[in-house]
Amino acid sequence: MSVFSLKNKTILITGASSGIGKAMAIACAQAGATLIISGRNKERLEHTFTMLEGSNHLAFATDLSTTQGVKLLVDFVPKIDGFVSNAGIVEPLLLQFIETSDIEKTLHINAISVIELTRLLLQEKKIKKGASLVFTSSINGNKCAYIGSSLYAASKAMLTGFMKAIALELAPKGIRANTIEPGMIETELLKNSDISLEDLENDKQNYPLKRYGKPEEVAYAAIFLLSDASSWTTGTNMLLDGGYTLH
Ligand SMILES: NC(=O)c1ccc[n+]([C@@H]2O[C@H](COP(=O)([O-])OP(=O)(O)OC[C@H]3O[C@@H](n4cnc5c(N)ncnc54)[C@H](OP(=O)(O)O)[C@@H]3O)[C@@H](O)[C@H]2O)c1
Repeated sequence: MSVFSLKNKTILITGASSGIGKAMAIACAQAGATLIISGRNKERLEHTFTMLEGSNHLAFATDLSTTQGVKLLVDFVPKIDGFVSNAGIVEPLLLQFIETSDIEKTLHINAISVIELTRLLLQEKKIKKGASLVFTSSINGNKCAYIGSSLYAASKAMLTGFMKAIALELAPKGIRANTIEPGMIETELLKNSDISLEDLENDKQNYPLKRYGKPEEVAYAAIFLLSDASSWTTGTNMLLDGGYTLH
């Protein structure tokens, strides 16, 4: 069996109803994993579910913006060999227009609910010894920043700090924790943003590889981090940015 195989591993993926999480679910199932996929929109989640190779997968729709929604998911999942905490939102706003509710919304979905999910899974003994925890972060807030992205950047930097501390705390159990830091990836998240098509096309020229990433290219990094191929990798930020931050 390939060291990159996810056979005999039960993996939870949040944000699996769209974009990067959907590509991760499809690729992880192809790599042999048994999946629990989660998303907010039931219809889109069901669509991902129909695209999964193999059997015994589970799907659970829940809103992770509430602690209750996180608890429902934790109650639902069996013991896992790993997760990708991937659900997230981006709502660009200049600092001068930000209201308290905006701060709460972005930080809650992108970071606080991620901490809650990890904490509850651990406390409920759902994370097996030797498991791998993967957090979808971003170059934004960690390697660079964009105007109007202060909340998003803060939420993603929060994930890095959290990941590093738990990588140390959980190492005695053989549990590993890492983030993935993608640059711009072609997903709904971009289409739903206020950035014009022309600006997006111009921005691609700032990437040495002259294009944005594809969701499946992030999925392959997740497979590496979830598999035994990365058994000595913990506490790291895996940068995937087509060379963008080389400048
Ligand atoms: N696209 C990029 O350029 C890029 C770059 C760096 C990092 N990232 C990160 O990658 C992750 C995935 O982004 P994406 O580009 O794939 O975006 P996307 O296509 O918009 O997908 C976002 C996912 O998060 C889920 N989600 C959002 N709010 C939720 C909530 N309150 N409760 C439960 N699920 C919720 C969505 O569920 P529903 O569809 O069911 O609402 C969806 O499955 C995010 O953490 C994002 O910050 C993206």
